[in-house]
Amino acid sequence: MSTTVPPADSPLAAVSEGLGEQAWIEVIQKMDEVYNDLLQYEVALEEKNAALEESHQFIESVLASMSDILIVCDRNGNIEEVNASLCHFAGKDQAALEHTPVFSLFADDSERARAREVFARFGREGVHDCEFFLRAGDGATVPVSMNCTPRVSQTGKLMGMVVTGRPVGELRRAYQALRQAHDDLKRTQGQLLHAEKMVSLGRLVAGVAHELNNPISFVLGNVLSLKRYAQRLESYLGAVQAVDNPELKALRAELRIDRVLADMPLLIDGMIEGAERTRDIVDALKRFSAVDKMTPEQVSLNEVVERSVRWVVQSASARFAVSVDLPPRLICSGSSGQLQQVVMNLVQNACDATINQPEARLKISGLVENGMACIRFIDNGPGISEEHLGRLFEPFFTTKPVGQGTGLGLSISYGIVERHGGKLAAANLPEGGAEFILALPVESS
Ligand SMILES: Nc1ncnc2c1ncn2[C@@H]1O[C@H](COP(=O)(O)OP(=O)(O)OP(=O)(O)O)[C@@H](O)[C@H]1O
Ligand SMILES: [Mg+2]
Repeated sequence: MSTTVPPADSPLAAVSEGLGEQAWIEVIQKMDEVYNDLLQYEVALEEKNAALEESHQFIESVLASMSDILIVCDRNGNIEEVNASLCHFAGKDQAALEHTPVFSLFADDSERARAREVFARFGREGVHDCEFFLRAGDGATVPVSMNCTPRVSQTGKLMGMVVTGRPVGELRRAYQALRQAHDDLKRTQGQLLHAEKMVSLGRLVAGVAHELNNPISFVLGNVLSLKRYAQRLESYLGAVQAVDNPELKALRAELRIDRVLADMPLLIDGMIEGAERTRDIVDALKRFSAVDKMTPEQVSLNEVVERSVRWVVQSASARFAVSVDLPPRLICSGSSGQLQQVVMNLVQNACDATINQPEARLKISGLVENGMACIRFIDNGPGISEEHLGRLFEPFFTTKPVGQGTGLGLSISYGIVERHGGKLAAANLPEGGAEFILALPVESS
């Protein structure tokens, strides 16, 4: 360390004369120490400044990269600081937002009032995940899930609040899309299962129909022959009876031949009726499983519907109001007889289902979309119970009393519609009643 002695002609030299050299040296050493301390303070200050700058930049970068919006407000609810996300959301820069009331960010007066009320109600506890509508920079109202935490000083005094928020519109849209996709998947899976079930049923039924076809044909053929033979036998027995032979007469009485002869036509007619019914069922089963092939023709669906409605309404036991509203000229390629069978069964089913309604109604409406005619049959009956919905198209499924329904109507219709390249579906309406949708490919007019 260097020590400085005042020059001999300086004013200090005079003073120094009164002081010892030692005192000067001490003063100068003290100054040196103070100077050193100062230097160290300066270095420490610079280090602290650098650390402060670094943490400032860190906070700035965290705030800038936050996707959630952040607002720091004072006690009166005026904005003090916001992050880049809010600037982007509101379409304004930081300077334009500062010192404006935070409530001006909300979508409208009612939303502002609600926010004021909620923020005030929860006060120091803060608000968690509360959804509000904010006004975005492009004028749109966006739902935002908000959190609000009070900001307190070191002494515990309330300084304002920190508000964060996450726009949930995107999230909700994504969730809705996901749910839609899930529902579509479930429906497709159901349709696939249903289609598979119908294909297996078709195969099974085709086998049964094939096996039954021959026996029932010869039962029917034989019983018709038997009827003819019975008439001949009766005539012969009549002739035998005319012969005056007491033994024969006794035997006739003993064997109760007159009773047998009286019963025979009834028994044979019963057999014929039963065999014919069985043959009709086998025919229906063959139609369901597409054993019979059809030659396609041009069919007017308008005429098919009109004819079916007329026939069912004419034979209905009670009043049954049917309204038809179809686009004109619905032309489909296929079998008019088979399509008639489908529509008649749908109208007849609706008529049966609404039998106990004070004002039985069926509404038939239609539209054409992407080359498909979509015809809806909506009735005001009791609808279809959940456990029956999945079984409607199964052969022999019926809820009608024995003798009133075979349960083949819808299953045959399903097969027919499939072979025409269409679809047949059933549902319940929320307001009650059943809805059947018949979709068939139509020619573009
Ligand atoms: N519009 C409807 N409202 C309520 N249930 C219905 C309706 N249409 C059909 N169903 C139910 O579906 C069952 C099956 O109908 P499907 O036409 O196959 O046979 P069915 O009418 O009982 O007998 P079939 O048609 O052979 O005379 C019916 O018994 C009924 O329970
Ligand atoms: Mg039916």
